[in-house]
Amino acid sequence: MLSWLPLLMLVSVAAAQSSRFRAEFPGPYCAARRDRCCHDRQDGCAQPISSTMCYCDEFCDRGEHGDCCPDYEEVCLGMTTPVPPGPLQSCVHKNRYFTPFDPPVVDNCNTCKCNIDGTVTCTDDVCLVDDDLLRQLHHLERSIGWKAGNYSEWWGRKYDEGKVLRLGTFQPKIPVKAMKRLSNRGGPLPSHFDAADHWPRLVGEARDQGWCGSSWALSTTTMASDRFAILSKGREQVQLAPQQLLACVRRQQACSGGHLDTAWQYLRRVGVVNDECYPYIAAKNQCKINDGDTLVSANCELPANVNRTAMYRMGPAYSLNNETDIMTEIKERGTVQAILRVYRDFFSYQNGIYRHSAAATPAEERSAYHSVRLIGWGEERVGYDMVKYWIAVNSWGTWWGENGRFRILRGTNECEIESYVLASNPYVHQHVQTVRNVGDLQELIVGTGYVPHPSRQRPYPPHSRG
Ligand SMILES: *[C@@H]1O[C@H](CO)[C@@H](O)[C@H](O)[C@H]1NC(C)=O
Ligand SMILES: *[C@@H]1O[C@H](CO)[C@@H](O)[C@H](O)[C@H]1NC(C)=O
Ligand SMILES: *[C@@H]1O[C@H](CO)[C@@H](O)[C@H](O)[C@H]1NC(C)=O
Repeated sequence: MLSWLPLLMLVSVAAAQSSRFRAEFPGPYCAARRDRCCHDRQDGCAQPISSTMCYCDEFCDRGEHGDCCPDYEEVCLGMTTPVPPGPLQSCVHKNRYFTPFDPPVVDNCNTCKCNIDGTVTCTDDVCLVDDDLLRQLHHLERSIGWKAGNYSEWWGRKYDEGKVLRLGTFQPKIPVKAMKRLSNRGGPLPSHFDAADHWPRLVGEARDQGWCGSSWALSTTTMASDRFAILSKGREQVQLAPQQLLACVRRQQACSGGHLDTAWQYLRRVGVVNDECYPYIAAKNQCKINDGDTLVSANCELPANVNRTAMYRMGPAYSLNNETDIMTEIKERGTVQAILRVYRDFFSYQNGIYRHSAAATPAEERSAYHSVRLIGWGEERVGYDMVKYWIAVNSWGTWWGENGRFRILRGTNECEIESYVLASNPYVHQHVQTVRNVGDLQELIVGTGYVPHPSRQRPYPPHSRG
């Protein structure tokens, strides 16, 4: 009566062994042979395995002394032996059980695989965000003066991806940096100024560059668009096409980043079309604009307000020296472009006045450059201190930060935000019809179609520029 018991035990041991065998030698063996399985005994019906051979003929299947390939039962007998997650093959990572045959488990931006011996091996990349960083920022909230948010868009991404694909402005070279600096006359400046309130509907909202390192193109065209609208008093309200810069500006790396001075040179030399005519796709495509094109030859719809057929071109870019110069420029002429050094904690900014925090280990201190628009400034009492800030617009969509904007410390060159600030003036269409009293500005628009910088003594365009 009890004679079947040892047999059953033997069978289950054998099954466990065979599945272990199968796990260690996943193959394929018989499955890899052209005629797969063979009848009777055929010694050539074999496959190399480890340092010996295994067989796929019927003869191999002889119990204890058999020498079948690990996948013989499955391939030749059609038996599917589901591999039970026995103690030897099952792994656990953060409360998830998986086996060497399961796809790797995804843990934020890393993947983990289960080894045969039950250990887990994970890739070791720094993620754009993780719970540790968020916890640290939460603890530091009072002392740093800004709050972190948990953005689902950042999860599963490596920090390196964020630095390349969410930023994309190259650090300016020193000679370029020192070029053409202009300073504005100082005058009384208000303690708060927001260009979007000062010129309602004329300052663009935050766009989203997507996973493309195109901030060099977006910050340039959005600032140029703002200035067309502001300096034409709303006659030329146009969204200019960053896609044209991505596709057409040579010596730039499209979604891998670009230089601002090269972008401005292109806007000055060639000009751009409007966004509808060349929609943004967050990837490089073939350039469809030729030098010398007009809006007509580029097949763009012409604007309704002004008799414009020329491309939207900008005057030469100039840089601004210091806090008061930047403020005067914004108040007098509209938004400006600034370069910003980005650290990992910046991605998780949600609201408040940003400053770089210590919530990042030294390995993560690797930073990269980004460019944004500065649209105003203000000050706010935080504790006992009056904290001065800039209002900036990012290009990560309105889901990020304060409706796509952020505030950052002013006057201390926080993250180098004051070290490379650029402005440029548009060739507003000459036929601006509404003439309202805006001082010398309007006269210049009507007179030349170009607004020179107030400190520029020479008439525009300057002659003999090599
Ligand atoms: C952040 O959100 C992710 C899901 O998107 C969640 O897994 C994680 O626990 C959250 N972390 C914190 C600190 O709220
Ligand atoms: C900025 O520079 C101008 C001259 O270029 C100077 O008059 C002004 O005092 C400076 N402002 C600050 C805050 O350094
Ligand atoms: C628009 O400008 C073009 C030349 O730039 C001129 O030939 C045309 O007459 C103008 N049209 C109007 C309605 O002013």
